[in-house]
Amino acid sequence: MAEIIDGKAIAEKIKSELLVSATAFEQKHGRKVGLAVIRVGNDPASAVYVRNKIKACEKCNIRSFSYDLDEAVADAELISLIHKLNDDVNVDGILVQLPLPKHINEREVLSEIAPKKDADGFHTVNAGKLFLGEKGCTVACTPRGIIELIKSTGVNISGKHAVVVGRSNIVGKPIAALLLANDATVTVCHSRTVNLKEITLSADILVVAIGKSKFITADMVKRGAVVIDVGMNRDENGLCGDVDFNGVKDKAGYITPVPGGVGPMTVAMLLSNTVDGAMHE
Ligand code: GUN
Repeated sequence: MAEIIDGKAIAEKIKSELLVSATAFEQKHGRKVGLAVIRVGNDPASAVYVRNKIKACEKCNIRSFSYDLDEAVADAELISLIHKLNDDVNVDGILVQLPLPKHINEREVLSEIAPKKDADGFHTVNAGKLFLGEKGCTVACTPRGIIELIKSTGVNISGKHAVVVGRSNIVGKPIAALLLANDATVTVCHSRTVNLKEITLSADILVVAIGKSKFITADMVKRGAVVIDVGMNRDENGLCGDVDFNGVKDKAGYITPVPGGVGPMTVAMLLSNTVDGAMHE
């Protein structure tokens, strides 16, 4: 039986430390650390995520500035809001919740955020620095949280075979870069991968981020592996991950639950990126 990695508890501990740093910042600078959160349209999952992020700000003494824009908003209007926030001295971090409506050019919008205020680490400059192994970049929240979760197990990443299933810009690509920076041997699998099972079976560390309910089953997992489930899917029984938790938990060494694994860490790392941004101005 695997040890369950308690992402919620680890995130709570990080947030209690952030409350201390954010309060020290306020005492020193006479203003709170500030995070602007922009949501466009009516995606119900995004509404829940944004609400959680704003609630977490309150708990950590971070001031949040919330913007809910209409689904039909023009790119130019969204970009002009971002420019205003780039110039606002009370705003240390800016986040545009994804996905954006299809008519909006996501890459163009994200690249308008000042890299030093890019709390999500999605700007080309920050993503590029991560791939080059340069210090001083903002690292995307979910991948940063995943590394913390793996380290919490005590398993040394160096030299391990880490398999990432999924190649998104938000999770798959940056977690592959971070695992590589931590000296893992990294394989990235995706929808065109041949013999997926053969590859996942050789993973000491398996990170799954594909958005397919219970896709990874026990027969695909090496005994004793660290399994990180980034999935957040809704099926007839409610929330579930990309990993068949009930089957895999008897085979893995460590496993994250859904909910209560990666999700709370993403929020904690967003706040951490925002506080770091404020401190380094
Ligand atoms: N959509 C799914 N995950 C994320 C995230 O980490 N940040 C933002 N902005 N949007 C997301």
